[in-house]
Amino acid sequence: MTTLVHTRADLAAELDRAGGEIAVVMTMGALHEGHRQLMRVARERSAFVVVTIFVNPLQFGPGEDFEKYPRTLDDDVAACAAEGVTVVFAPSRDDVYPGGPPSITMHPGPLGEILEGASRPGHFSGMLTVVQKLLMLTRADVAYFGEKDFQQLALIRRMARDLELGVEIEGVPTVRESDGLALSSRNRYLSAEQRLSALALSRALREGAAQSDAESVLAAAHKILADEPGVRVDYLALTGADLGAAPEEGEARLLVAAKVGSTRLIDNVPLQLR
Ligand code: PAJ
Repeated sequence: MTTLVHTRADLAAELDRAGGEIAVVMTMGALHEGHRQLMRVARERSAFVVVTIFVNPLQFGPGEDFEKYPRTLDDDVAACAAEGVTVVFAPSRDDVYPGGPPSITMHPGPLGEILEGASRPGHFSGMLTVVQKLLMLTRADVAYFGEKDFQQLALIRRMARDLELGVEIEGVPTVRESDGLALSSRNRYLSAEQRLSALALSRALREGAAQSDAESVLAAAHKILADEPGVRVDYLALTGADLGAAPEEGEARLLVAAKVGSTRLIDNVPLQLR
């Protein structure tokens, strides 16, 4: 049985019933198979799984899609129930931020200034602030995040370690459509034609990852993106697995952000440099 709660008091009452470990999956709703995969991985290990659904105003910049972000609570709760989730916490803005926006917030540090951080000022500060708050409110022992948002995952790991939050952070590989498109709540903004253009992102990453040296990786990925007029690239970057400088050899990450129409999409893949 899945219980839906909206207030922190009702959440606390449910958490008091958890016998053992509390696992948490945080989301902004409009749930898809990517989110559901996080729930399944959480459920494999923990009997008590909390899913949070909150479109966090703090992590959206001016002119971004906070207002139009899809809100589909009934379907979301049904998806959580189907995955055997114990509690869905869907708080209001006032329940998360009583007294208005917090005056003390998280500072993401240097890792938050590159890539997404450079393109979306304030985004990671707002994201880390709500993640920290939700970790506390849900009393999480373990929390699951997708590699789809690779820099977000890296920052959350770093926050948990630097601030000794006493929570285990687990990453889950990206779930894709059969044609390669990474699942995202924002995909529903795409027209059929734009969706075809958007496939260039995953195709570029796949082609790039099939090369062996840094120069060929970037050239192969760049060519595919440049050949797709519907895609405006924000960045294409090859980094180390920790998002630092790419190594000569070994584990690396290829990341892309681009706009298709007015929709901003991100994706990334692991690769081996030889
Ligand atoms: P949201 O975009 O809803 O994503 C919630 C979680 O699902 C994140 O950990 C994200 O990485 C993961 N996810 C999304 N698409 C995925 C896919 N295709 N495969 C695997 N995992 C995927 O990320 C956020 O919300 C917010 O920033 C949040 C962490 C909830 C803080 O507000």
